[in-house]
Amino acid sequence: MRVDIVTIFPEFFQVLDVSLLGKARQDGLIDVRVHDLRDATTDRHRTVDDTPYGGGAGMVMKPEPWGQTIDAILDDAAGDRGAPGLAVADDAELADARPLVVFPSPAGTVFTQATARRYALEPHIVFGCGRYEGIDQRVFEDTAERARVELVSLGDYVLNGGEVAVTAMIEAFGRLVPGVVGNPESLVEESHEDGLLEYPSYTKPALWRGREVPDVLLSGHHAKIAAWRHEQQLERTRRVRPELLPPELG
Ligand code: ADE
Repeated sequence: MRVDIVTIFPEFFQVLDVSLLGKARQDGLIDVRVHDLRDATTDRHRTVDDTPYGGGAGMVMKPEPWGQTIDAILDDAAGDRGAPGLAVADDAELADARPLVVFPSPAGTVFTQATARRYALEPHIVFGCGRYEGIDQRVFEDTAERARVELVSLGDYVLNGGEVAVTAMIEAFGRLVPGVVGNPESLVEESHEDGLLEYPSYTKPALWRGREVPDVLLSGHHAKIAAWRHEQQLERTRRVRPELLPPELG
């Protein structure tokens, strides 16, 4: 899978060299390429922003560096895919083959585990990290002429820019890319995978600071353990995130 990231803070993404994702990159499972938006500027100050038309506080990211950088990435990826396959593709296949360009934004649809599962299946995603008051609206419209464009929010709060959001999204879908997590079973029994919060976990010692591990987990009785865990999931979800419960369980 190929991931391109456009940012004015390329050094921010050194974090992707470590841990599970660093290993996935080394193993060639995820090919991450980071692009400095300022490389597409032509003035001495490498300017990427300007004042908003219509007035108001803050600065807006200029369209030209974005257009040039995204074009270069999409042209390069089209070259990688090669032309022969496209010659036989029908319209539907062509539409599906268009790369996905994601702009993190508090004005976007909320990123969930379902989004992560969908992104993990994409062959190529481009992330555009905005800063300041956002990116000139025409960049989204122009990019949508050759790619699928999504504005995606991490949640109902405002970050200074898209970099943290992109890191979180890559972490969430990267671990779902086949081969990245050694034991895929460990992905199944997690919060949100079945729509519920996960059950509490325990390990040795069985007694710690006077606190015991629940008896059922020491019983070796698999059906009882599964039932206990499911009950814990329901109880926790009902208490902490009742809006996640399907009506018949609420
Ligand atoms: N950029 C600024 N705030 C954001 C948010 N909540 N989610 C995604 N990107 C953002």
